[in-house]
Amino acid sequence: MTDQVNLKVLLEKANDVMTAFEEKKKAVEASPELKIIDELRVEFLGRKGHITGLMEHMKGLSKEERPEAGKSINVLRKSVEQTIETLKNKAENWQLEKHLSERNLDISLPADSSARKGSLHPVTLMRSALLEEFRALGFKVYDGPEVDLDQYNFSALNFKDDHPARDMQDTFFIKDRKSTVLRTHTSNIQIHAMLNEKPPIKMVAPGRTYRCDSDLTHTPMFHQIEAVVVDKDISMADMKGIVDKFLKAIFGSDLETRLRPSYFPFVEPGGEVDIQCTNCKGKGCRICSDTGWIEIGGLGMIHPNVFEAVDLDSESYTGFAFGFGIDRIAMMKYGLKDLRQLFEGDEAFLNQFPVQTNVNK
Ligand code: DAH
Repeated sequence: MTDQVNLKVLLEKANDVMTAFEEKKKAVEASPELKIIDELRVEFLGRKGHITGLMEHMKGLSKEERPEAGKSINVLRKSVEQTIETLKNKAENWQLEKHLSERNLDISLPADSSARKGSLHPVTLMRSALLEEFRALGFKVYDGPEVDLDQYNFSALNFKDDHPARDMQDTFFIKDRKSTVLRTHTSNIQIHAMLNEKPPIKMVAPGRTYRCDSDLTHTPMFHQIEAVVVDKDISMADMKGIVDKFLKAIFGSDLETRLRPSYFPFVEPGGEVDIQCTNCKGKGCRICSDTGWIEIGGLGMIHPNVFEAVDLDSESYTGFAFGFGIDRIAMMKYGLKDLRQLFEGDEAFLNQFPVQTNVNK
């Protein structure tokens, strides 16, 4: 049975509750502990708490008195709720600080030499090694878009409209954007570079490329590195010299390489570069499809139509370009059996490449 109260008495009671709460709050603030704060919450806000009690008393008020009483009790309830929240945060911080200050951190203790140091991904290692060689040969490092217009990935590179590479089987098209593709090769960077720079151009660009393809030696996302050199009187001999130099720098001077004529619309003449399969040393195995050779990329002298597409005079300038698969080179260098290993995120595999690994050592 609740006592009969009028508005004045109820407001006085609310005031007493407030005073009681303030006092308890001071005590809790001195050493805030979550358990005590929760007891405080139950005492004031719980089902049988002081503030709930005040609400009960409202039943005895007249219709006219209720709104004012309700308002005051609500203000009180909100203020108590907020204070309890603040106290909880304080308690958590206080406990954390207490825990940290009690922990004995001995900074003179030697580091645990068996702790894992992490590793660099083999593709990252290979990309750095390649860039290091190209920088030493005076190449500038470029970047270009992975999502690009058909114009840069195909048309300006002299791909005719009916070239099979544009077919859905090879190219990932961006939905609802007919002329936008995930670049199928890094050769798009040739176009961006030649549009942005004036010859002499000597640049190299590593990056991700995408094709709808997956087997032992193909993955839908893979990495290429593209090189472009444009100047007056650049010849195939310059191209061959550069390719030879950097491949020997990566694989060692006794590396066997071969150049085969091949067709790419943006070069004339064009070719492909094979290196001797490092898995079977040329004898023939599953990785090289029993040929003894692994194709690592294409190359050639830049086609006059490509020069025209970027407004460079094909009478005055010559140049060469090549694009190699970084993953293929990593596969051969590190003796991997399946290209897909590179992208499976298997820790045991990745841990074979310690963080300090230098590809040339
Ligand atoms: N972009 C070609 C591909 O991915 C490779 C290539 C061939 C790049 C010839 C070149 C080149 O720069 O000259 O199949």
